[in-house]
Amino acid sequence: MRKIGSIAAEKEQLDTYEVENLYHSWSYQPGKSPLRVVSANGVRFTTDDGRERLDFSSCFVSHNIGHGNQRVIDAVCRQAQKLASFAPTLANEPRAVLAKMLERITPGDLSRSFITLGGTEANETAIKLCQQYTGKRKLISRYRSYHGGTGASMAVSSGDPRSWAAVTGRTEVTAVPQPYCYRCMFGKTYPACEMQCVTYLEEVIQLEGGSDQIAGMMCETVTGANGIIVPPPEYFPMVREICDRYGILLILDEVMSGFGRTGEWFAIDHWDVVPDIMTMAKGITSGYVPLGAAITRKAIGDHFTDAMFSHGATYAGHALGCAAAVEVVRVYEDDQLIENAAVLGAYLLEKSRELMDRHPVIGDVRGLGLFVGLELVRNRKTREPLIPVDARIRKGINPKLELAGRLGELGMIAMAANPSNVVAMAPPLIATKDDIDEGIAIMDKALEVIDHYAEE
Ligand SMILES: Cc1ncc(COP(=O)(O)O)c(C=O)c1O
Repeated sequence: MRKIGSIAAEKEQLDTYEVENLYHSWSYQPGKSPLRVVSANGVRFTTDDGRERLDFSSCFVSHNIGHGNQRVIDAVCRQAQKLASFAPTLANEPRAVLAKMLERITPGDLSRSFITLGGTEANETAIKLCQQYTGKRKLISRYRSYHGGTGASMAVSSGDPRSWAAVTGRTEVTAVPQPYCYRCMFGKTYPACEMQCVTYLEEVIQLEGGSDQIAGMMCETVTGANGIIVPPPEYFPMVREICDRYGILLILDEVMSGFGRTGEWFAIDHWDVVPDIMTMAKGITSGYVPLGAAITRKAIGDHFTDAMFSHGATYAGHALGCAAAVEVVRVYEDDQLIENAAVLGAYLLEKSRELMDRHPVIGDVRGLGLFVGLELVRNRKTREPLIPVDARIRKGINPKLELAGRLGELGMIAMAANPSNVVAMAPPLIATKDDIDEGIAIMDKALEVIDHYAEE
């Protein structure tokens, strides 16, 4: 029998385990341990070098209510003492309460949820639900999307460099362009474009066999890691109408954009459209315990009372995660965090736009709520991107990583290492005006390190 023995946990040993015994996500494996986070509170976190830094990313847009919330910690502890988890074939109280809450806070008749461990599984679930409900396989996705790191969710992550190494298996996916007005793939300008991205979508649907063949279309409502892309007002109503006409389910991924991030419960509330399936994770528990969910409209839910729902997981509806989510959802409402995101989001956008006056390396600034991105360019007139799309998979200098490093030195993290040319800022929804001013001041200074890449 192998023995565990003692495991030294001084800094030096921990750094070694980090480098020799772990895989780090989406990267060349580092030769040096990253900084170790020892605690986090509110909008700040402390690392083992003794420094406190500002979290301007909410940990990949998950810790929406901020770190160390005592109400949530207590709720998780209470649940752990009673029942941490049990086989999902039996019911548990927080799972049922959460399911009812999700019905209340999501739009339209979205009402029946499958509760997962995170966003990837929520999207895998959504795809299976969609295919099983429609009896069809084909999916439409959009370029510059990220929906998750496994089979089907990776297959619909079209154009994200993270999907290039994926084994896509049997998922049949056709990608269409995003409503990415700053870099319109049709070379048009909004609104004179008359929404050519939607016209093109309809043509692709017809070419792919229309209602006979296509099960669903999957979109991030506001695209996150691939560039904070906020569609124009007519986009989702037009997409909804086309999906209805062709009998295609509209699946919206609100993993990043949900739970108040954009100043509404879900980003789609800005468009007043009801998807057939909606997925969520991250902000559902604000990262206190891993959790996600896929919620469906009533007709889909009803269908599966007479048809087999062929999916499951040991930890589906995990009691600890559900207890965390129930408390977190109440915190959004009680502390008026979504209202705060709307007001402070407008302020963050305004302050971010002012950065353009001082930094020619910023080509565009856009966002919705506390979800704002700076798109970096080499040339503002030609819009030449600061880094080519495939730079991430090449080893070596990447100006965005220089920016990320400088931000860290100055005392802040933002989402600077994502696959697009966009640096995203997404502070926790509890942020104050002073926090925003501090973050913008740090970003202002940090951008100096990459300004020289821009041609005036
Ligand atoms: C829009 C979107 N969908 C899905 C995922 C995958 O979620 P998870 O990392 O919880 O598996 C992410 C993760 O960043 C995301 O941004």
